[in-house]
Amino acid sequence: MDSMYKLRFALAAIAGLAVFALLAFGQDDAVITRGKYLAEEVARCQDCHTPKMDNGAYIRSQWMKGSTISVMPAAPVTGWKSAAPDITPNGAVWKRWNDEGMINFLVTGKSPRGGKAGSPMPTYNLKKEDAEAIVAFLKTIQ
Ligand code: HEC
Repeated sequence: MDSMYKLRFALAAIAGLAVFALLAFGQDDAVITRGKYLAEEVARCQDCHTPKMDNGAYIRSQWMKGSTISVMPAAPVTGWKSAAPDITPNGAVWKRWNDEGMINFLVTGKSPRGGKAGSPMPTYNLKKEDAEAIVAFLKTIQ
């Protein structure tokens, strides 16, 4: 190979890598954006999993980090829980379940041990790709 050829080859390889990186990371961004939309606007996980101040505003620094449930059912519901756990990667649930357990929980409504969460946690039966997007988004929360 003459040196000019080598240089062109190297440049082409670098350009190829750059395109690959753009595609790979660009795609991740799209998944996270979709997961954020599903979690915050469709499922509204924060309604129960983010604590609020007295005026009802969310405590932003505690986003999805667990909260007491301030509402009570008008008629008693068996198994009604008064708290929703931290659902960020640093929380105890994630540490026990890992990414896969979190995804499966949103797909099947069941924990890795097969149990359902108590009310008012909804039983979600999401498509796998939607569950994966939500989990990808939750993973971005420190
Ligand atoms: C209407 C309130 C509410 C909403 C909305 C909600 N959760 Fe929950 N969630 C709860 C409560 C309450 C618990 C605690 C249940 C228990 O202790 O059995 C819980 C528990 C969980 C758990 C742990 C389950 C277990 O068995 O330990 C995970 C994971 C979870 N929620 C994820 C989510 C995600 C992700 C979303 C949004 C896609 C969401 N939740 C939306 C109220 C809610």
